[in-house]
Amino acid sequence: MDHRTATNPLEQYFSANRGRAMFKWRHYFDIYHRHFETYRGRRVTVVEFGVAQGGSLQMWKSYFGPEARVYGVDVDARCKTLTEDRIEIFIGDQGDRSFLRQLRERIGEADIVIDDGGHRMGQQIATFEEMFPLLVPGGTYLIEDVHTSYWRQFGGGYEKEGTFVEYVKRLIDQIHAWHSESRDLEVDYYTRHLKGMHVYGSVVVFDKAEVSEPVHQRTGQRSFKRGRRLLRRARRRSSLLSRLPALRHR
Ligand SMILES: C[S@@+](CC[C@H](N)C(=O)[O-])C[C@H]1O[C@@H](n2cnc3c(N)ncnc32)[C@H](O)[C@@H]1O
Repeated sequence: MDHRTATNPLEQYFSANRGRAMFKWRHYFDIYHRHFETYRGRRVTVVEFGVAQGGSLQMWKSYFGPEARVYGVDVDARCKTLTEDRIEIFIGDQGDRSFLRQLRERIGEADIVIDDGGHRMGQQIATFEEMFPLLVPGGTYLIEDVHTSYWRQFGGGYEKEGTFVEYVKRLIDQIHAWHSESRDLEVDYYTRHLKGMHVYGSVVVFDKAEVSEPVHQRTGQRSFKRGRRLLRRARRRSSLLSRLPALRHR
């Protein structure tokens, strides 16, 4: 066990858990703590898709502290009974966009959204598209188990159109759309609101922010006088020189 693991409060909570059951890949704790630590002790709203036995909702409640409000969402109606102080449960299908829109209205806004629900492609994409806008600027969206993008039984497959991983690859393009020279890639909602993505094994974390067009500036004094024209001339001369031996042999 390394130092980070030993001092990670989520890892400690999980190991000592005598509350409701939860299921976690051990390497997720480091990722959670890296991205969620700054929210601790603050008045935060956390939404998790995938309640199962209710254990992770209790973990979030304990980790984020007494000011936190935790919402769970699950398709299994039995989960409704897991409601408790500062934990509210909604029952519905995360692949159903009209349900997600109603949910958005009920919750208002959130600081953190975690998707640990059905892990099928359509569910993951619908939930991301409907719930990312719910986040406040500075908010965090975390999706788990994206390895299902490689599993046929979940609708996945390597480089298969429509998987969540392929969707993430397209978001890399969208983040760079400010610099696009193609009509097929233009600035959109994600260019303006997705500050960055962190891709880990099985987990992707999205940072939301108001993103404006990048500004490139120079400060300080130039070290060399050579401008672009001089540089071009020097490159032309060196390419001519490199062709000289070939000319000599003719
Ligand atoms: C992996 S478990 C969640 C585990 C829980 N977050 C934990 O850490 O202990 C997945 C949950 O997603 C729920 N689920 C499956 N399909 C769903 C859907 N379409 N909409 C919402 N929840 C769904 C299942 O009922 C199940 O409780």
